[in-house]
Amino acid sequence: MKNIIIGFRNAVLGFCYGTVLKPLFFLRDPEEVHDQIIGLGNFLGRYGLTRRLTALLFSYSNKALEQKILGIKFSNPVGLAAGFDKNAELTDIIPAVGFGFMEMGSITGEPCAGNLKPRLWRLPKSKSLVVYYGLKNDGTEAVAARLRNKKFVIPTGISIAKTNSKDTVEIGAGINDYIKTCREFAAIGDYFTLNISCPNSFGGEPFLEPANLDRLLFKIDELKIPKPIFLKISPDLSYDQLDRLMEVASRHNISGFICANLTKNRNNKKIKDAAVPEQGGLSGRVAEELANELIGYIYKKTRGQFVIIGCCGVFSAEDAYKKIRAGASLVQLITGMIYEGPQVISEINSGLIKLLVRDGFANISEAVGADNR
Ligand SMILES: Cc1cc2nc3c(=O)[nH]c(=O)nc-3n(C[C@H](O)[C@H](O)[C@H](O)COP(=O)(O)O)c2cc1C
Repeated sequence: MKNIIIGFRNAVLGFCYGTVLKPLFFLRDPEEVHDQIIGLGNFLGRYGLTRRLTALLFSYSNKALEQKILGIKFSNPVGLAAGFDKNAELTDIIPAVGFGFMEMGSITGEPCAGNLKPRLWRLPKSKSLVVYYGLKNDGTEAVAARLRNKKFVIPTGISIAKTNSKDTVEIGAGINDYIKTCREFAAIGDYFTLNISCPNSFGGEPFLEPANLDRLLFKIDELKIPKPIFLKISPDLSYDQLDRLMEVASRHNISGFICANLTKNRNNKKIKDAAVPEQGGLSGRVAEELANELIGYIYKKTRGQFVIIGCCGVFSAEDAYKKIRAGASLVQLITGMIYEGPQVISEINSGLIKLLVRDGFANISEAVGADNR
């Protein structure tokens, strides 16, 4: 009975989003809509009543989706990816939308206004977004102050990047910038992600170079951070580059990988829209297959040594399940929520239950890596 009511609720919400809200949103500038949604989420998160009403509309729970990973309890495997809540303003409402975990940021050592506007575009035919924010955020001190005394309802990750400025281009300065944020957030949240793959910042992605990454991780090891640390990698890496990054990661205190960030490659066959801005990274369907290949590669090669969080192009339970069967223990999304509506989180979770039953798995953890064992 519960499943029928939730299925009906999600169908109504999905219909309303697809026929009314999405067409209205898609008429307007994407960054403006994003900012207004942050404002609305901030408001809804402030009061017990609005949080409960939101949860009534969007929540879903099932024991078969629960996992304990690296000592952290996840009530479901669907998380909000970094970049939606850049300044950690929505930590009170995101759990009510049905997410099993959330990642704040990316946060940088210094406040950063980001790149000049426009810096966010939709590619509707490709089910993708082009993102050129350039790590806009309030900076480590302001965001840490916002979160310091918060009690998080679901596991919370802090995504850390280096400030988008010419002052952090020199490797030592870039490392100090990461370290500043790691120190500030040492006691905040459940895990860290080192975003070493932002396609939109000054000086490129120097920490995708193994020698530079080694230097960064050596300094981070010294901090003895008492929580898991993930590396967020680019979907444009070759297997050879990935091998070298995994070798470096295995010598340091790295628990896993987030696969993946935005793709920069404009020759991707999944691009169906005629006009694509020159700058920025692409999300959604365009990056999906690239990310899935990396997930499968890491899982096969390391057999569970690293926990994998799958990201890029999760629009449905089938998309999430593909990543899980390839080797991801958890998944994250942004673009799926923008194209399908916020009820998609509940749809994915309830759809995963059907897929687990179909394949004879009692818990989601049993499906992790099933295609690559
Ligand atoms: C608007 C927007 C802003 C983003 N900003 C960040 C960011 O600050 N840090 C980061 O690690 N990834 C950022 N990303 C990348 C996402 O976390 C994610 O890796 C990517 O969008 C692929 O997932 P998706 O297809 O579900 O959107 C951003 C993505 C979007 C759409």
